Amino acid sequence: MSSLTRRDLLRSGLALSASTLADSSVSRAHALLARYPAAASQEASAVVAPRERLLLDFGWKFFQGHASDPRRDLGFGMGQGDFAKSGEFEFATAKFDDSKWRSLNLPHDWAVELPFVRDEELESHGFKPLGRRYPETSIGWYRRGFDIPKEDFGRRIVIEFDGAFRSALVFFNGYFIGRNDNGYAPFRFDLTDFVNYGGRNFLVVRMDASFGDGWFYEGAGIYRHVWLTKTNALRLERWESAVQAEVRGKSAVLTLGTVVRYAGSDVESCRVRWRIVDGAGKAVASADSAVKPIVPNGFAIFVAGANLANPALWSPETPNLYSAVVTVESNGTIRDAEPITFGIRDIKWDADKGFFLNGKSVKIKGTCNHQDHAGVGAALPDRLQYYRLAVLKDMGGNAVRTSHNMPTPEWVEACDRLGMMMMCETRMMNSTPEGMAQLEAMVKRYRNSPSIILWSMGNEEGTLEKNPQGERVINDMVARAHDLDPTRLCTAAVNEGFETHFSDGLDVMGFNYNLGVPDAWHKAHPGKPCLGSETASTVCTRGIYSTDKLRNWVSAYDAEHPPWAELAEEWWKFYAAREWLAGGFAWTGFDYRGEPTPYGWPSINSQFGIVDMCGFPKDNFYYYKAWWGSEPVLHLFPYWNWEQREGEPIAVWVHSNLDSVELFLNGKSLGAKSVVPLTHLEWKVPYGPGLLEARGTKNGKVVLTKKRETTGAAESIRLTADRMEINADGEDVCIVKVEALDSAGRPVPTADQPINFKILGEGALIGVGNGDPNCQESDKEPMRSLFNGLAQVIVQATRMAGTIIVEASCDDWRGGLRPAQLTIMTKRVDLRPSVS
Ligand code: GAL
Repeated sequence: MSSLTRRDLLRSGLALSASTLADSSVSRAHALLARYPAAASQEASAVVAPRERLLLDFGWKFFQGHASDPRRDLGFGMGQGDFAKSGEFEFATAKFDDSKWRSLNLPHDWAVELPFVRDEELESHGFKPLGRRYPETSIGWYRRGFDIPKEDFGRRIVIEFDGAFRSALVFFNGYFIGRNDNGYAPFRFDLTDFVNYGGRNFLVVRMDASFGDGWFYEGAGIYRHVWLTKTNALRLERWESAVQAEVRGKSAVLTLGTVVRYAGSDVESCRVRWRIVDGAGKAVASADSAVKPIVPNGFAIFVAGANLANPALWSPETPNLYSAVVTVESNGTIRDAEPITFGIRDIKWDADKGFFLNGKSVKIKGTCNHQDHAGVGAALPDRLQYYRLAVLKDMGGNAVRTSHNMPTPEWVEACDRLGMMMMCETRMMNSTPEGMAQLEAMVKRYRNSPSIILWSMGNEEGTLEKNPQGERVINDMVARAHDLDPTRLCTAAVNEGFETHFSDGLDVMGFNYNLGVPDAWHKAHPGKPCLGSETASTVCTRGIYSTDKLRNWVSAYDAEHPPWAELAEEWWKFYAAREWLAGGFAWTGFDYRGEPTPYGWPSINSQFGIVDMCGFPKDNFYYYKAWWGSEPVLHLFPYWNWEQREGEPIAVWVHSNLDSVELFLNGKSLGAKSVVPLTHLEWKVPYGPGLLEARGTKNGKVVLTKKRETTGAAESIRLTADRMEINADGEDVCIVKVEALDSAGRPVPTADQPINFKILGEGALIGVGNGDPNCQESDKEPMRSLFNGLAQVIVQATRMAGTIIVEASCDDWRGGLRPAQLTIMTKRVDLRPSVS
């Protein structure tokens, strides 16, 4: 096997320990250069090697096939002879006419475009008509023609998918190339032998979403990026370049390793060089391997070591990154190179004292998150990953768990670059070849990422947890993860097998819910570090203040949870009080499609999120911000529009980390209360319209005030963009908040008018949302109703620099709203190298 493992490094006599860093590539570095300047620009400019990594996202054709009628599925599967020959797939040749197919760009999720269907069996995935009973909407065909110049003859040409949902069959130039079953792990095929050099080439991918991988919304189609990579015959093996960094006193010891593969005809001698570059682009260290011969169709493992004095350590507060530019040279010529982003940090798990980062005790303040977002489903433009992470960081979170699957590369990169720790989880807990392949892809792909502090072998596999097979499976998985990455420990999210040998196999015990278990468990297993792999599952509807079962609404006070779950205040008090618990991950940061708990239809998404599907905070966001974050917080709720409830007592809550808070209604004090750490404050206030005000005191001084005013009716629309200028690269997006204001310009918290959108100029609408778990309006139409005063529009730039104008209007039967217009600039940037 051509994998760089612990054994290889040990054999070479190199020390191993605390590692880091994410796979990066020339084109990815270029992308980051365009978007998130600073450190990445240095990585990109540092690489000059003859490797091309081209984005293959643009210019696809799409056709909805049919899972049970071959006549509506390009005749595929008509008899049983489809795979009789390797090369008779005409739909992947020039003879096929795709002019009637729809044109689109990736990433693409066709599930989010489908209507909602009332069918209880579809509930967990969000009521989208996918599965064996919906053959007409479960198959998607993607087709792309492109040229490959004759000069590429002799290079290795590889197609890479970052992940696609699901059961991909890949055809190229009429030949069957391969398949990939699961929906999350990356997969790749070497196309070299099948290329039409100096001519047109045709790639066809049939995706089949008839089966799912999970019990939550998973999307359908090629929902992550696709790449075409061209390398020399002598090249770095994919995901084999690893940098392990061990902090020793004031310096770091780097252990560098990679695998070089060779497809030529004569023995080649080569060596590998590493040039280490800091965040400012300065070369700070270098290392050379010994020269080694590689036989044709063989490979060789190369290792070296380097020292770094006074390294800038990575942490959520200081996400310092380095780059290792790895080059393969033979006879003085660079044959391949790749920049690897890594970070230097020291992590330690202690059974009595929890988790330590760079020698300091750090409580893990985490959230679990699925990968879909309002408007776009599972097909997120890269920018949205950064947007979502910024929301969770603003809440004071310092960690995320990629429940329950291997994440998209851009989510990991966002964590590395913005500073967020990660518990990285594989989808399939299994020691079969498929389960191990998924685990290996995850560990190799991301082992250089400083954000990842723990590998998770999976979630809630009750049968494995309770049976002897589970012990064997988990031991095999943990051993393989250690072999590929000796620097990180392994856990799993356990819900049933607490007292079994399954749990013994984990390096770090992960408790899902069950607050009654950890104390006794810790006593019985004194040597094992522990954390809350999944907690909370508190349910809230944003902007709703009394539970209404008829409308599928749950109160947004921290008051409701399903029987197995906990309130925010309950779980965090429990974990915060125990030093030996390293912290935990609340279920969930963002609402997600599917699992519409606590209600079913017409709810189409979960209500577990601390923020809604768009990222608009629910009130619990401020509980976490108060007790997780470092800034003073004063959050007052509910809103103060309670027409027809005059005199009725309204529960008024405050989330604050100040010393005390005094509440006023129309200038009259309703009393001051002292803040008890990790709890909220509560008053009962007879409703009267006007001004509700909280004044928060720290060390005897009022330092923050918060107001809630009774507003008038909605009169106008306000649009606010997250950025006024975005990149004209066909990928970047602007995230626009839509609100309704009264005549005094105050946001109306109950507004629910339908808003129409028009996008003019160099942009297009790619999705809308409003955070309403019960809203079945289209995610793709240029219209969305406000939900409790808010909606979101996601606008994507074209590749032409210019302006995008977003217009919003409302001609509701109850009376219209004054329209709004917003102009966003799009600026010319270097485009990521892509297939034309
Ligand atoms: C957990 C499970 C999650 C989600 C959650 C809802 O048991 O791991 O995926 O279903 O329950 O509370």
